[in-house]
Amino acid sequence: MLLIVSLLACGSPDYSNGDASAGASVYASACESCHGADGAAGVAVDGVAAADLQFETSDQTDDELADVILNGAGAMPAQTLTDTETADCIAYMRQTFTGTDTGDTAEIGG
Ligand code: HEC
Repeated sequence: MLLIVSLLACGSPDYSNGDASAGASVYASACESCHGADGAAGVAVDGVAAADLQFETSDQTDDELADVILNGAGAMPAQTLTDTETADCIAYMRQTFTGTDTGDTAEIGG
């Protein structure tokens, strides 16, 4: 959490104005292989199942999602995307993955 706060303090880009239709292809090429088209495929990396994005998307802010995407989290490797691609991907996820957090999915750092 300290890391996220210090990154924000450095003046992060605005990830809230993405284009969801452009984000669909970003998601398909950068995320779908592990998280699946429905966000819930949960392919394992180092024995850790990929998080269910139906829940994680609504549970995290745009900046938190961007931090996971660009810096990785736990077993998830960092993805090499531009700020625009990241914002578009987040917009697509917000439009597509609308489940709410049941508290059943594992989370990193609470
Ligand atoms: C190589 C496989 C892989 C790719 C590609 C991948 N992820 Fe993940 N992702 C994972 C795994 C594994 C986890 C669970 C990490 C853990 O719990 O240690 C995860 C976790 C997450 C989480 C939850 C992190 C948290 O705070 O709990 C989010 C959000 C997420 N991924 C989004 C994305 C997005 C968006 C993309 C595409 C830009 C993406 N992932 C690409 C494997 C992947």
